[in-house]
Amino acid sequence: MIIAPSILNADNLNLKENIKNAVAVGIDRFHIDIMDGHFVPNLSFGPQLISDFKREFPMTDAEIHFMSNNPDDLIPAFVEAGADIMELHYGAMSESKLNYWLDYLASNGVDAVLAIKPDIPADVVEKFLPKIKQVLVMTVNPGFGGQSFIADSAEKIKQVREIVGPNMAIEVDGGINDRTIKIAKDAGADVFVVGSYLYENGNIANQVLKLEKIIK
Ligand code: DX5
Ligand code: ZN
Repeated sequence: MIIAPSILNADNLNLKENIKNAVAVGIDRFHIDIMDGHFVPNLSFGPQLISDFKREFPMTDAEIHFMSNNPDDLIPAFVEAGADIMELHYGAMSESKLNYWLDYLASNGVDAVLAIKPDIPADVVEKFLPKIKQVLVMTVNPGFGGQSFIADSAEKIKQVREIVGPNMAIEVDGGINDRTIKIAKDAGADVFVVGSYLYENGNIANQVLKLEKIIK
């Protein structure tokens, strides 16, 4: 079981402090949302954040949730910046491009992940299995932190688990808190992106520990 904090809703002027607090309680992967205002109606971070992150936290994985329909210009830039894991959305580019970029990630030593939004059926995952290390099941419509977990997602997670078998990691992203993390885990998820819940009480470490107790 892995908790991957999303920094989207962290205080951006105190990112380093936030990341340090989470690393201090054993977090070894951060989920970094990349949005360019086209695939989703919001803007977030660029490649420099990833290179700064890897310089300061070289032992911590940078998981890039890539929400853009412009892979050709941007994927190489994020790989170059030090991405450890990159998550590409089904539907953000043609299937042939998706295949090309998943192969590109593998040949550059980056773990490739297929992400599916709530409106994408679980069965698209099957044909990409040989190329991916994890499936990301979005449990909200991507674009913003602080949304509510979509209840139907539990069924979607179960369907993905049937398709990928027991060994591939399934990550969930969106609306994960001390109630929904249990629902997602019971449905078959084992990696949990957590954003706004971590920043609710001003103490990220405590929030991580609370969630860990629930899923262990
Ligand atoms: C939403 C992003 C998420 C977001 C999660 O599009 O992909 O990673 O930061 O935030 P919460 O946990 O607040 O839903
Ligand atoms: Zn995300």
